[in-house]
Amino acid sequence: MPADPEHVVAVDRDDPTKAAADDDRPRWAAFPSYQRERERAGRKDQQDESYDTTRQFKQGFEDNLWLVTKHIERRRARLDKLDVTPSPEVVRRVVAAIPDPLPDEGALGDTMHYLMQRFLPGCLPAQNGPRYFGFVTGGTTDAAQLADLLVTSYDENVQVTLPDTSASTALEGRALEWVLDLLGIPRDVFVGRTITTGATASNVLGLACAREHLYATASNTPDGYSFAEYGPPARGHQDPPIVIVALEPHFSIRKAAALVGIGSRSFLDVKASASNPLAFDLDDLARLLNRPKDDPTRTIVSYGLGEVNTGGFGRDLRKVATLCKRYGAWLHVDAAFGGFAHCVPELKHLTDGIELANSLTLDGHKWLNIPYDCGLFFTSTSQNLKAFLGPPEDLRPAYLSAGPDKGLEKYPSEHEDIPSPLYVGIENSRRFRALPLFASLMTYGWKGYRHFVRMNVHFARQLAELINVHPSYELLNRQPGYTGNSGNRAYTGWSDYDASDRRVPIIPLNIVLFRGSESSPYHSPDNDNGIVKLIDALNGSRKLYVSGTRYRNRGAIRIAISNWLTWKEEDFNIVKTVLEEVAGIVVVPDTPSPRRSAFK
Ligand SMILES: Cc1ncc(COP(=O)(O)O)c(C=O)c1O
Repeated sequence: MPADPEHVVAVDRDDPTKAAADDDRPRWAAFPSYQRERERAGRKDQQDESYDTTRQFKQGFEDNLWLVTKHIERRRARLDKLDVTPSPEVVRRVVAAIPDPLPDEGALGDTMHYLMQRFLPGCLPAQNGPRYFGFVTGGTTDAAQLADLLVTSYDENVQVTLPDTSASTALEGRALEWVLDLLGIPRDVFVGRTITTGATASNVLGLACAREHLYATASNTPDGYSFAEYGPPARGHQDPPIVIVALEPHFSIRKAAALVGIGSRSFLDVKASASNPLAFDLDDLARLLNRPKDDPTRTIVSYGLGEVNTGGFGRDLRKVATLCKRYGAWLHVDAAFGGFAHCVPELKHLTDGIELANSLTLDGHKWLNIPYDCGLFFTSTSQNLKAFLGPPEDLRPAYLSAGPDKGLEKYPSEHEDIPSPLYVGIENSRRFRALPLFASLMTYGWKGYRHFVRMNVHFARQLAELINVHPSYELLNRQPGYTGNSGNRAYTGWSDYDASDRRVPIIPLNIVLFRGSESSPYHSPDNDNGIVKLIDALNGSRKLYVSGTRYRNRGAIRIAISNWLTWKEEDFNIVKTVLEEVAGIVVVPDTPSPRRSAFK
């Protein structure tokens, strides 16, 4: 067993390309193997062609595994203490020091040392820690992290269901059932299911299922026409134009529309309700869906459950689903993160109607805190996915059958319950993504996940309360009807979660959207300079990370909370201090007028 690798965390914070003081290894550039390769690179003609395979196998997998495990263990223990981001200077130095040229031969120990000591300090040290609030980023639960190590160790390619050979697809099937159980959606509502690389891929599947269904049922294509098999209809049959109706769709919906041939500009303008920009004006929606009999246009309604800037909800999904059904439109629901509100009883009203989707996108690597990458896709008919991802009978690839005596001629009936992933998903070869998902669901269960979502929302609301009263900030996603945590704009400070509190919450869910107020030094109404500076100032602390966005044509800042570790008062106080230091004003609980701080 090697000596305790203190150096694993004893990195020079400002220059990880320098060895730490207690690191007795040579400077990486002076590693003998690499030095040798640099010399050889210039004289390739004299290169030794032999390669000692045995030596490579003896390079100390066990010792290095121990070092890597130690590194992971120490990092995990200090995740809430680490800088959330490296400094730009460190990133520049690490990038400049990425080895080149390709060596003829290296050494495992040198490589692992380089990665842990010199390279990883230039990456995000604590993106999966409690104060990374960029985009919508989950962390990784302990159960998921450990299972993910096993995934790599086994490196199974989960593509074909081989009932006598591997149980992996059965576990994948169970994990997907458990996601539905977690949300309280009956399993038979979404019988088409698969694990994807993320919500974007799931949205691609959703629009592709829609396209397949809409072509098959169009008035001007032969009955059951398959776009997947034949592409756009041949002459004599007019292409049924497909249009999308959506309010504030996530960008990935446009990307998906581009990918499946619908077109990223094929979106119709639709009115929003006067009271909620995320709710449809149902009359206008009905007008768009109710087309004259001779109009072959088919419609997809893409409905976002959880808008990425505000975390807001339309609250009209059930009514929208009724209209879609009445007029034969396909209802795709992108609930990448917002869908998990459905597992918390007091938040469930936000996602009411989720089970009425024809196709549904969720993300495992957001609120489920499964490591990247893990997306989830569900659709109401299993045939739809198989119709365009499963091979037509005469094109079935023989080498991907379950075995010589269990050929693909039995597909799909033989594998009705556990379809081969390659026939219901985009990839042929794929990682065993279900294992971390399953492990995490098995470890924390419904109670655990309900707790994670609840605590994140509670944390976000408390931050919103603070920002709402702080004179230097303007909260942008305050809900109508909110009356303050003590009936006015006073600040009552950190409080524990109160399940019986039924007052209108300050923000819809887990996203806090804000910018510098008029009295802030970062106020710049005519351009985004102020917001950029404010983001730099906040992130420059390296104690947290926020991301920028545009809201109502002006720059804004988002704090999105979806990490299972984000619930502690200590972390709240760190964030509060950073916000106050950057503004130069401290907010004291229960003191209506905030006082100037001593920070400046
Ligand atoms: C509503 C919504 N849809 C889709 C996506 C894209 O997700 P992914 O990055 O997993 O592809 C996101 C990401 O934030 C999202 O919030």
